[in-house]
Amino acid sequence: MAPSTKLLLLSLYLLQSLSASFGQDAVKGGYWFPESGFPASSIDSTLFTHLFCAFAVLNPQTNQVSISPSNNASFSQFTKTVQSKNPSVKTLLSIGGGGANRTVFASMASQSASRKSFIDSSIRVARAYGFSGLDLDWEYPQTAGDMTNLGTLLTEWRAAVATEARSSGRAALLLTAAFYFSPNLNELKYPAQSINTNLDWVNVMAYDFYDPSWYKFTNSHSMLYDPSGRVSGSSGIQAWIQAGVSAKKLVLGMPFYGYAWRLVNANNHGLLAPANGPAGPDNGAMTYNQIRNFIAQNNAPVVYNGTLVMNYCYAGTTWIGYDDTQAISTKVSYAKQKGLLGYFAWHVGADNNWALSQQAQQSWEAEISGTGHYSRSRRIKNGPDGVLSEMIYLV
Ligand SMILES: *[C@@H]1O[C@H](CO)[C@@H](O)[C@H](O)[C@H]1NC(C)=O
Ligand SMILES: *[C@@H]1O[C@H](CO)[C@@H](O)[C@H](O)[C@H]1NC(C)=O
Ligand SMILES: *[C@@H]1O[C@H](CO)[C@@H](O)[C@H](O)[C@H]1NC(C)=O
Repeated sequence: MAPSTKLLLLSLYLLQSLSASFGQDAVKGGYWFPESGFPASSIDSTLFTHLFCAFAVLNPQTNQVSISPSNNASFSQFTKTVQSKNPSVKTLLSIGGGGANRTVFASMASQSASRKSFIDSSIRVARAYGFSGLDLDWEYPQTAGDMTNLGTLLTEWRAAVATEARSSGRAALLLTAAFYFSPNLNELKYPAQSINTNLDWVNVMAYDFYDPSWYKFTNSHSMLYDPSGRVSGSSGIQAWIQAGVSAKKLVLGMPFYGYAWRLVNANNHGLLAPANGPAGPDNGAMTYNQIRNFIAQNNAPVVYNGTLVMNYCYAGTTWIGYDDTQAISTKVSYAKQKGLLGYFAWHVGADNNWALSQQAQQSWEAEISGTGHYSRSRRIKNGPDGVLSEMIYLV
């Protein structure tokens, strides 16, 4: 090889390494919503780069985005509140959510005039309330037509955001969306090309795979890997990349909650043990904070399964599948090694003394980014307090 070629390759290599490390901001995200009962003023925003304020509502008559009167005060103060501890944290207004009426979104997206009402009002509200971006949470499109219309909506939204930035002279609003864990939603396919072109990134909801209301065996609802090949976070991420969404636009969703199953037999308390429904209200959903209290009160054993990347704990006939610090740490390391943009949590108010958020931030910083060009690091041990205590570098 001629020396000049070598030099060229070396420069390309250095350029690539640089852009991998500095070119793209990382996303360490979290959702907050007022119904959690957790005050926005208590968020330790130093642990996040982006906070999503959830949810703005879509009016079925006008197709306009607005903030419900009961949330007006907390949403209008949200950015100022969280920036008081971390002036560089960015805030996004999230629209819709799991409880919103999906038919209203489908109807809005189906016509040019209603899309325009949605888009223009969303930008107006974001600016009026001091958000840096907008996040679409339409759960979920139901038809192939909905998916096509979603693609069109994102194209028009991006164009409108760019136009507004030019006329206001301000930085363009960020545009993101929270999508199903896989681009293949039952028989439907998300419009990957429009998503990749028009969104700053996608929040991949890699959780809620199973819950005790319908699944009659104990399980993780958010496993990173599934040896049996059914459903897992990594298979969803892989499918999004294969569909054409850049890894650099994917943000891995992690639940700060778990599900409590009622065991059929208290002595059979492993993974995939027979269960007969939820142990508790809300389909057995419990915040990490509640789970840590349960563990403390019942002296419950905690098991980490590194094959699936999940934790569980049990006491009596209650069995809880969730993500503790080990699972969170491994998921964040996976996200960074895979070259993803970052991670997000649903939801920040569910954490327990910031243990998961701190673990996530540390694991992201500890993991050397990228694709194995120059070095890899691997966490091999958790200290008793969940703090990184040992690392090896494979150069
Ligand atoms: C909502 O909050 C904004 C900003 O504080 C305020 O100007 C506006 O009057 C409020 N709207 C309602 C309907 O309360
Ligand atoms: C959802 O919205 C559609 C269209 O506006 C309406 O017909 C339907 O009743 C709504 N569903 C619920 C559960 O509110
Ligand atoms: C983790 O779970 C898998 C699937 O249930 C099981 O095959 C494996 O033995 C478990 N590993 C550990 C270390 O418990």
